[in-house]
Amino acid sequence: MNQPALYARSNAAQRESVSRMLRDWAGRLRWSPEEQEAVLDVGCGPSDVTAQLLLPRLPSSVRALVGHDVSEEMVRHAAAANTALAPRLRFLCTDIAARDLPATPLGACAQQLQGFHKVFSFYALHWVADQRTSLRNIHSLLRPGGEALLLFVVNSPMYDAYIAMQNNPRWCDFMKDANGFISPYHRSTDPVLDFSTVLRQMGFNVHACRLEHFRYCYPTMQNFKDSTMVLNPFLKEVPEELKTLFINDFMREHQREKVKYMSMVSSQESERNDTALYHLHLITHVEKHNQDVL
Ligand SMILES: C[S@@+](CC[C@H](N)C(=O)[O-])C[C@H]1O[C@@H](n2cnc3c(N)ncnc32)[C@H](O)[C@@H]1O
Repeated sequence: MNQPALYARSNAAQRESVSRMLRDWAGRLRWSPEEQEAVLDVGCGPSDVTAQLLLPRLPSSVRALVGHDVSEEMVRHAAAANTALAPRLRFLCTDIAARDLPATPLGACAQQLQGFHKVFSFYALHWVADQRTSLRNIHSLLRPGGEALLLFVVNSPMYDAYIAMQNNPRWCDFMKDANGFISPYHRSTDPVLDFSTVLRQMGFNVHACRLEHFRYCYPTMQNFKDSTMVLNPFLKEVPEELKTLFINDFMREHQREKVKYMSMVSSQESERNDTALYHLHLITHVEKHNQDVL
């Protein structure tokens, strides 16, 4: 995912979901009236969520909001879009699953700030295969007593559409690594237990870890198609002359998987809605022990 401008034009559903999450959950965080806190946004993407949704929610005493992303294109776009808010708002390129975090720009920044008081992450952690290292890194980036609010996708009919397309002989050559683009919790029978177990092993107190169904209806079929395809990592592998066919096949599979998903989620959702996007999210609020346990 390295098309910042296109992503920022197609992420209405993600913005809606982050707005709701911040409205419902941000009040649980404890802010110190004395300290000028430092805040991190993991996997900030093009920065519209960081700058337009997260920043206005932070107390004015926050001295630094750092967005980071593994994609250089995203970070370049984010920095260029927010020069007026620098240096209070700044952006860095680092993989949250880096094995040598202290040697990265984010590690250096955390050292300079003496750790972050709060970490947020929206729609990013399901892209990270190495969950243990990324959670260990989030833990080490936080100060003792620091808190994190995390939202990521556990399940989606889109993942089942990837698998169906991978099993189609026409498309399998372009989708060999489909599993790498599916949430690590997609096949879990108990994502809450799996995720909270790793969090506790890394030294977090888990205040809340909750699944939530999310549904968003795009105004038009074209909007739905654009936003779905901007996230599709396989389209760039497909030869130009086959792209339209691929998109049409993918959208058909996605609609089919949506119908199955809707019937599992709720009987009220059985009515077909072609422009609806469905996700199952995990929303988590954790706190780092005052004592380091690692
Ligand atoms: C769907 S976007 C979400 C962006 C933004 N948080 C939002 O809510 O709109 C996911 C972002 O996570 C980033 N990402 C994926 N893997 C990452 C990793 N290992 N470390 C840091 N960022 C990562 C991607 O580059 C992408 O910009």
